[in-house]
Amino acid sequence: MSDQYRLYYTLGAFILGSYLTFAWQSRYRDDASHLEDSEPRRQQKYSSRFFKIHNFDTRKKNLTDESNYVGEGVGDIKQGIEGCIGNTPLIRIKSLSEATGCEILVKAEFLNGAGNSPKDRVALSIIQTAEEQGLLTPHSGDTIYEGTVGSTGISLAAICRARGYKAHICMPDDMAIEKSDLLLKLGAEVERVRPAPIVDQNQFVNLARNRAAEHSANPDKRGSGLFADQFETEANWRAHFTGTGPEIYEQTGGFLDAFVSGAGTGGTISGVALFLKEKLPDVKIVLADPPGSGLYNRVKYGVMFDPKEREGTRRRTQVDTIVEGIGINRVTQNFEVGKELIDDAIRVTDDQAIAMARWLVENDGIFCGSSSAVNCVAAAKLAKQLGPGHRIVTLLCDSGARHLSKFWANTEPIGGSEDDLSLDSIIGL
Ligand SMILES: Cc1ncc(COP(=O)(O)O)c(C=O)c1O
Repeated sequence: MSDQYRLYYTLGAFILGSYLTFAWQSRYRDDASHLEDSEPRRQQKYSSRFFKIHNFDTRKKNLTDESNYVGEGVGDIKQGIEGCIGNTPLIRIKSLSEATGCEILVKAEFLNGAGNSPKDRVALSIIQTAEEQGLLTPHSGDTIYEGTVGSTGISLAAICRARGYKAHICMPDDMAIEKSDLLLKLGAEVERVRPAPIVDQNQFVNLARNRAAEHSANPDKRGSGLFADQFETEANWRAHFTGTGPEIYEQTGGFLDAFVSGAGTGGTISGVALFLKEKLPDVKIVLADPPGSGLYNRVKYGVMFDPKEREGTRRRTQVDTIVEGIGINRVTQNFEVGKELIDDAIRVTDDQAIAMARWLVENDGIFCGSSSAVNCVAAAKLAKQLGPGHRIVTLLCDSGARHLSKFWANTEPIGGSEDDLSLDSIIGL
C-alpha cells in the first residue's frame, strides 16, 4: 500500500470510529434520560396509590401489598390467586335504578378470585393474621378448621391450597350440595352435620372448634389445628374495614346515601359501617334480613328474637328460610362491633328473594345467589322509602351457580313469560 493510500485509510477509519462513538454516546444518553424519566413516573404511580390509602387512614397493608402487585413493564400482574382478592367492580344495576329513580350500585364480590365471594377477603385476613402470629407453617400438616355454611369454607380451602395448609370444613347438611362438592374438589375434608342450635356441641361451629383442639392434642397427627373462628374473630370485620369499605368510598367518590347488607357473621356490615360512618356520618347503614333471623328485631327493637326461631330450642333448620349465608339468631362479636351503627333493618321474604333473582337475570343478565337477591330486594325497598335521586350501594355476594339445587330450583323458568312481575309487585310479595 502506498503512503498516500495508507493516509486515506487511516483518515477514513478515524472518521468512522468518531461517528460510531458519537452515535453510541447519544443513544446511551437517550436511554439514560428515559430511565431517569421513568423513575419519577413509577414513583408517582406508586405514591398516588399510597397517597389514597394514606388519605383513607386505613391499614390496607397485607391485602394491598399482594393484590396490587404490578409486574415490571407488562401491566397489572397479580401475585397468585390471593392477588385476585379485593378491588371488585361496582356495578350500576340498570333495571333497578330505572325502576326506582335511585342509583342502585352493587359491589360484585362474586368476582373475588379464590372462592368467588366476599369471604375471600376474610379467609385471607384470617390466614395472614395467623401467619403473622407464627401460628401456621406451610407444608407442615397445619390444618385450618372452620364452621361455615359454605362460602368461607370454599375461600379457606382455595387459599389453604395456595399457601401449603390443609382445610377441614364443618357445615350444616341442609346447605346446597354444590358447595360441599366444590369443597371436596378443592381437597378439603368436609363434615356435613345435622343443623343444631349453638348450645349443642355438634353444631357446625362448635364441632370445628373441637376438631381443631383434637388435632392439636393428637401426637399422631402432623402439624396443629387452627380454628378460623369467622363469627368471632376481629380479622373478619377488619377485612371489610380495610378493604370493602374503602373500596366503596373510593369507587363512589364518597357520594352515597346508604349501604345495605345482610349479615351472617356480621363482619361485612360491621366492617363497612365502621369505615363509612367515620367518613360519612350521614350515610344510612341498613340490614337486609331473611325470615327466621333474629337480627331484624335486634336492630328495630333492641331484642334478639324471631317467633320462628327461639335460640336454644330450635332443632330443625338453621334459620327458617331458603336463603343461605345470612340470618342468625345470636349476636356474634363481628355483629356486636358495628351494631350501634346500623340505622335500620328491612325484612325480605323468600318469595321476594326468588322473584328478585329471576328479575336480575331477565332484565340485567345477572345470575346471583340467594343472599345477593335479598340484598337487592332490600335496596329496592329502601329506594322506594328514600325517594328518587338517592344512591344506594349493596353487595352481590356469590353466583347463582352455588345455589342451583336449592334456591334456584324454586324459580320459574326464565324468558318469554307472559306474567312477568313488576318491581312493585316483587317488593309487595
Ligand atoms: C353467600 C354469603 N353472603 C353473605 C354472607 C354474610 O356475610 P357476613 O358473614 O360478613 O355477615 C355470607 C356469610 O357466610 C355468605 O355465605
